[in-house]
Amino acid sequence: MSAAHFLDTAGAFLKTGYRYEREPYNFTDDTDDEEISAAAAGDCEDEDGAAYAGDVAETGGAAYAGDVAETGYCADAGDAADDSDAADAGAGVLEAIAADIRACTGCGLCATRINAVPGEGAEKPLVLVVGEGPGADEDASGRPFVGPAGQLLDKMLLAIGLDRKKNCFIANVIKCRPPKNRDPYPDEAAACFPFFERQLAALNPPLILTVGKIPVKTLLGTDEGITRLRGNWKSYHGIPLLPTFHPSYLLRDESQKQFAWEDLKSLCRRLAGIDADYAAETAELRKARNI
Ligand code: URA
Repeated sequence: MSAAHFLDTAGAFLKTGYRYEREPYNFTDDTDDEEISAAAAGDCEDEDGAAYAGDVAETGGAAYAGDVAETGYCADAGDAADDSDAADAGAGVLEAIAADIRACTGCGLCATRINAVPGEGAEKPLVLVVGEGPGADEDASGRPFVGPAGQLLDKMLLAIGLDRKKNCFIANVIKCRPPKNRDPYPDEAAACFPFFERQLAALNPPLILTVGKIPVKTLLGTDEGITRLRGNWKSYHGIPLLPTFHPSYLLRDESQKQFAWEDLKSLCRRLAGIDADYAAETAELRKARNI
């Protein structure tokens, strides 16, 4: 546990209201997108990303160790994934999965959806971002995270050099909108989950970022609250997974953005430790933002 987390937790426990003073987060509406993009895309000097990798410990996950083998994703993806969806199979496989999703009648949500929302992004993403399920904007457009929460999500990703067009894939655990945005029923979630597993097998991302309670609950089977889960690295099929707050929650409660920013920095450090190109591309950005 970091010192900041310890102080916050102790403050909450003792009801002192004490909060460790953090640097401001970097994905507000006043974020200068051009400046960040330039820093992310520029010809940056190669800062050693490995230096950042060490301080992100695999602290979480132990509670779930029983059902999450640390064997590496490809080795154990077979159960739920279609064998034809081999890792790195490219856009064809992703499009085939998307076509199956759009044609799906596996649960009652097919009757109320306007569009199924398979997901979108890079074929070989550095990060698979996993949300809950489509809202009204996504149902209308067939694309994930396009409403206000999606716009904030894009800003959050951009603040650490990630972009759904370039190096992320964004998907939801539920592909069709539940009426009135209610939580999906267990049978709906169960019917939909194999699609997510097929996408995961095809994408084989080095890291997963889950936003909000539902995806981390779905993937890890935990009932722990997102406030406790966020910021603690877990593992899913051997892939490091970081839970953070959902952007729609951050829109409702700005004071939580500082914690999401801590999580994004953790993700950025870890990614820089495992991907040299990302480390080089974001060297300047990481320096400027104290990551
Ligand atoms: N919220 C989600 O979890 N997913 C979306 O695609 C949009 C909003």
